[in-house]
Amino acid sequence: MTDNNYVSTEQLRTAAIEVLRRNDLGTMTSAAPDLYPHMWSWDAAFVAIGLARVDVPRAITELRTLLDAQWSTGMIPHIVFSDNDTGYFPGFDRWGTAGAKARPAGIKSSGICQPPVHAIALRHILDRGRENGGADQAAAEQFLRESFDGWLAWHRWLADVRDPGRVGLIEIHHGWESGFDNSPRWDGPYAAIQPGQLDPFTRRDILHVADVSERPDDAEYAKYLWLVQQMASVGFDDKAVQDIVDFRVRDVFFSGIMAASTWVLADLADEIGRPEAAELREVAKRFRDGVDSTVSPETGLARDYDVLADQWIATDTVSGFAPLVAGGDPRLLAHQREILQGSDWMGFPGLRFALPPSTSPASAAFRARTYWRGPVWPFLNLLLGWACARDGQDDLYETLRSESLQQLNDLAFGEYYEPFTAEPLGSLAQAWTAAAALEWLGSPQTSDTTPSPAQAENR
Ligand code: SER
Repeated sequence: MTDNNYVSTEQLRTAAIEVLRRNDLGTMTSAAPDLYPHMWSWDAAFVAIGLARVDVPRAITELRTLLDAQWSTGMIPHIVFSDNDTGYFPGFDRWGTAGAKARPAGIKSSGICQPPVHAIALRHILDRGRENGGADQAAAEQFLRESFDGWLAWHRWLADVRDPGRVGLIEIHHGWESGFDNSPRWDGPYAAIQPGQLDPFTRRDILHVADVSERPDDAEYAKYLWLVQQMASVGFDDKAVQDIVDFRVRDVFFSGIMAASTWVLADLADEIGRPEAAELREVAKRFRDGVDSTVSPETGLARDYDVLADQWIATDTVSGFAPLVAGGDPRLLAHQREILQGSDWMGFPGLRFALPPSTSPASAAFRARTYWRGPVWPFLNLLLGWACARDGQDDLYETLRSESLQQLNDLAFGEYYEPFTAEPLGSLAQAWTAAAALEWLGSPQTSDTTPSPAQAENR
């Protein structure tokens, strides 16, 4: 089988490995060389998935570094700052986390979180370790035992602190927590925010892209920084933040990942004889049900919920497919797969590759080149593919895999791609894009076969 038309599988693998090598700062991988010279939480999980294909101990190091930054509350921060001050803004000083009581001493981090993909990454590390056997297997199994309490604390913090009403949906306090920073999903909640007295700032992100229209605009940034300032004013204390912050949204895609990842963590708990497996399955089920409860009867897509405005947020964004990630009701999932492959998404006329844009081109909010308002994000397609494999959806898995590999054969490893031209946008040499390529390719000796899913059964 030919995965792409221009470069060989080996050329793609070699180039992807080289991107991860160049971003390697020793014990962490920078998300991208210039734009993101630090470690991001969910980037690190995807990076670990890719690294596990080539170097299991290095993949373990990635997750260990992230876990070392875990706050005493259980929260895993969304940025772990490297010493590499190449000009990212907002840096550690601007975050104001120096005085946050829960932050571990000596490790510089932000004070918000990102979706918990980590247990899924841990599963991949374990599977790759077992495939390789020997020292890799021993290291992966040892790491699972050694790190389990950290992941458990992380999931418990999310379940308790970020879902106080037990509705099965994670509440976020910043668009950055979703990872979908400037998605149309957040236009409503951000429109209601009037920043107060804001410390002056100079953006640096726009220095690292070819065109400023690829990034959020200044007005959006002012609001992003206002929320950071609000949280810093109360020392990033969980309860106080919830009381004062101007952005409180139940994020359905974050919640879908929470459901999926908590199932995986429950299975891992069973493997090492931990009694928390049943508790984790209860939590996973709560989030699966929570995600399903958001689905619009009109569109069939999942919705976010604006807590402060007390209203649903219905957008034509890829987050609407959160149930596909969460797993669950087979009829709902079948309907969602139909929509995903239909003419508003993967089948939209003129797409360069049959891959879902972050916002549907059929939506008035669609912008082909602007960050989360339209471009295609390769890491997200890997996540959707993983969920398809888990649920035994081999055909859709194979479509996502082969289209993704064709997209990635430009060897640019773009952060995101223009859906109609396949132009790489944002940062190039983005670590999690390289990692996605490695995972889609599979292990060298099995590169011409579909990697066998860890969790094939449809629960
Ligand atoms: N994604 C954000 C940025 O663009 C940070 O989380 O800097």
